Amino acid sequence: MSDLIEIARDGAVQTIRFNRPDKKNAITGDMYAAISAALTAAEADAGVRVHVLFGSGGVFTAGNDLADFLRSGSILADSGNITRFLKLVAGLEKPLIAGVDGLAVGVGTTLLMHCDMVYASPTSWFQTPFTALGLVPEAGSSLIGPRIMGHAFAFELLVAGGKFSAEKALMSGLLNSVIPSEALEAETMKAAARLAGLPPEAVKISKRLLKGDAAAVAQRIDDEVALFAERLHSEEAQAAVRAFFQRS
Ligand code: COA
Repeated sequence: MSDLIEIARDGAVQTIRFNRPDKKNAITGDMYAAISAALTAAEADAGVRVHVLFGSGGVFTAGNDLADFLRSGSILADSGNITRFLKLVAGLEKPLIAGVDGLAVGVGTTLLMHCDMVYASPTSWFQTPFTALGLVPEAGSSLIGPRIMGHAFAFELLVAGGKFSAEKALMSGLLNSVIPSEALEAETMKAAARLAGLPPEAVKISKRLLKGDAAAVAQRIDDEVALFAERLHSEEAQAAVRAFFQRS
C-alpha cells in the first residue's frame, strides 16, 4: 500500500489521509489504488460504519498528479485505477465525510460532490481548472455538480474554472459548514462518530435513497473518462500540462 496514503481507525470510523504535502497531495495511480483498497476493505468490514477523508500539511489535494498526464498513454494505463476509484466512491454504501483544510483542486473538489457531508476551514478554496488544461469535468461532476449547486454555480466552477472560497462553496451547497482550522478535524470526527452511532442499515438505505440513480452516475463517469482521455492526448492539453511544469 502506498505510504502517501495514511489509513487509520478510530472506533467505527476509518480515516483516509492524503499524505504527500510536498506535492500538494497530488494523487498518483498508486495512491488511487491504495484509497480504493482501503475503502473496499472498510465497506466489507461490519466494524466500520463511516469513511472520513483528510488532507495534510494545510492542503486537501491538488487533484490528479499532472506528471501522470504527461506520460505517453498514461491515462489509458492508469485510468483503470482512476475509474475504479471514482466508481467506488460514487457507489459507497457507508457514509463518506470530508474535512478540507486548504486547497482542493480538480478531483480534490469533484470528489467532495460524492461525500455525504463536507466540512472546511475558512481559508480553504476549491477549483477545477479542467478547461484551462484543455480537459473536461470528471468524477460524474457534470451530472452531480448542477444537481448540488444549480447550473450557474456548477458552470462557474466546472467550466469557467472559477475559484470558490469556503464561503462561496458553502453558499453553493458543496459544504455543510465552515469550521476554524484548529477544530476542523476534531469536529469532522465528532460528526462521523455521531453518524456511526446510528443504526447502520437504516443509514445505508437512507443514503441510497438520497443518492438516487447510481447507474446513471456510473455511466456519466464512463462517458467523462472517455472524453477526458481523448482530450488528454490533444495538443491543447499536452501544452497546458507542459506549461505547468515549465513555470519559473
Ligand atoms: N500534479 C503534480 N504535481 C503537483 C500538482 C499536481 N496536480 N500540484 C502541485 N504539484 C507540485 C508542484 O509541481 C510542486 O512541485 P516541486 O516543488 O517539485 O516543483 C509542488 O507540488 C508545490 O506546488 P506549487 O505549484 O509550487 O505550489 P503553489 O502553492 O504555488 O500552487 C497549486 C498550488 C495547487 C495552485 C498549483 O500547484 C497548481 O495549480 N497545481 C495543479 C493543479 C491542477 O491542475 N490539478 C489537476 C486538475 S485536473
